[in-house]
Order: sequence, then structure tokens, then C-alpha cells
Amino acid sequence: MHFHILTLFPEMVMDGLNTSITGRAMKNGHITVEATNIRDFAENKHGHVDDYPYGGGAGMVMQPGPVYRAYEYVKNQIDERIKSSQVDSQVTSEENSMLENDGDFQKKPRVIYMTPQGKVFNQSIAEELAKEEDLVLLCGHYEGIDERVLEMIVTDNLSIGDYVLTGGELPAMVVIDAVSRLVPGVLNNDVSAEFETFHDNLLEYPQYTRPEEFMGRKVPEVLLSGHHKNIDAWRREQSLQRTKERRPDLLSD
Ligand code: ADE
Repeated sequence: MHFHILTLFPEMVMDGLNTSITGRAMKNGHITVEATNIRDFAENKHGHVDDYPYGGGAGMVMQPGPVYRAYEYVKNQIDERIKSSQVDSQVTSEENSMLENDGDFQKKPRVIYMTPQGKVFNQSIAEELAKEEDLVLLCGHYEGIDERVLEMIVTDNLSIGDYVLTGGELPAMVVIDAVSRLVPGVLNNDVSAEFETFHDNLLEYPQYTRPEEFMGRKVPEVLLSGHHKNIDAWRREQSLQRTKERRPDLLSD
């Protein structure tokens, strides 16, 4: 899966994602992450990408031109990659001529604008996004981005919660982390993605490891019994109880 981030702070997202499991997934080739600096697409010598809002008001607004050109650059890269992989995989001559003749043959990529005005991100959205081959994440700064370019390129608006951050970079990293761990091969253990928190809309049961007793607290007896049916039943009961106590809203969905 290929993630493309449009941002004014590429080093911020790349430094964060190069670490830990997402970093390993990049090294192993399960995912690619590329951050494109919107400032590289400014057309003035100062590299300005923002200006005062029409109609007045506080703050600055990101201009549509640099955002649109950065998007076009990324879209071309995606198109080129898809074209070359199709040619590589021995397409018929008929399909080949279709690729050559129709510049618009590739569909528009999914472009996600990170904004507190978006739909609130959750596990089922992560699962849906994990089915895409390419995701473009657009990060805004200042008071936002000129509405016209958003109308032209954005397919989804996503928020990571009802609070306002200084920019879309942390939210984009959250989405990439949650989606990439669902990509086959990224986690060592497929089972852990399947039986974790939010599977079946329930919170995960409590986990224990050695030692069997820690500062007077013992591991629940049933987990030491080796009786798998009883263990499964106990875990299910714990999940339900936990969800009722901590997140009753999940049970009413
Ligand atoms: N940009 C600023 N705040 C945000 C939020 N809560 N979610 C997504 N993008 C944002």
C-alpha cells in the first residue's frame, strides 16, 4: 500500500513514521510513505504558500495553487507506477493500447483532507481505507486551505477527534498507523489484528504475562488451566464487562 502525504512539514511525518512498526513495514516493502512538500510548489521566490483571507478575519489561508500542483505531482507519480506495473505484468496488446491512448485511464486517487470538520476516524474507516492501493493525505495549516482546491481534489474529510490541532500532520500519522497495521504482513501475527480491541465492537480482555504473582496479585486461575473453552468464555465475559463499564456507547451502536 502506498501513502502520499501533502504537507508543509515533511520531516515531521517521516521522522515519526520511520520508527517502530511503520518504519519496519517501510523497510520490508509492505508500505511506502512519501511526503511531498507543498512549499516546493510555490511560484514566488520567497516560497510563500499562504495569504490573507478574503473578507477579513484572523490568520492566513493556504493558497490553492501550490496545493493543486503538489496534488498533480503525486497523481502523476501514482499514474506512472500503475501504468508501468500493468505493462510489466504482460497485459494484452489491446489493454496496452488503451493505456497509451487514454491519459485519463487511471481513476482519481482517494484524497483525504485531515480536518476537525471531517467524519470522526474509527476502526471501520481504517478497515475500509486499508483496501485502497494508494491514499493521498492532505495536511492543512494556519486557518485552513482555500475552499476551491478542496472542492477540486478532496474525496474524504477526516477528523481524529473533537479538538483542534495546529495542523493535519499528527492526524495523518494516526490514520497511516491505524491503516498500515491492517495491511497483510505488517504485523507479525495476523491473529492479533483480528482479536484485538474493537473486534466485534468490544474492548479487548485484560492480558497477563509472567510472573504468575506480582506484588501479591495473581494471574486469574482460568488462564493457567489450559482449558481453551473456559479461557475463551472468560475472555468474552471480560470484554463485555469492560465495554459496559468503559465504553457503553459501543454496545448501543
Ligand atoms: N487538523 C486540526 N485538528 C484536526 C483534527 N482534530 N483532526 C484532523 N485534522 C485536524
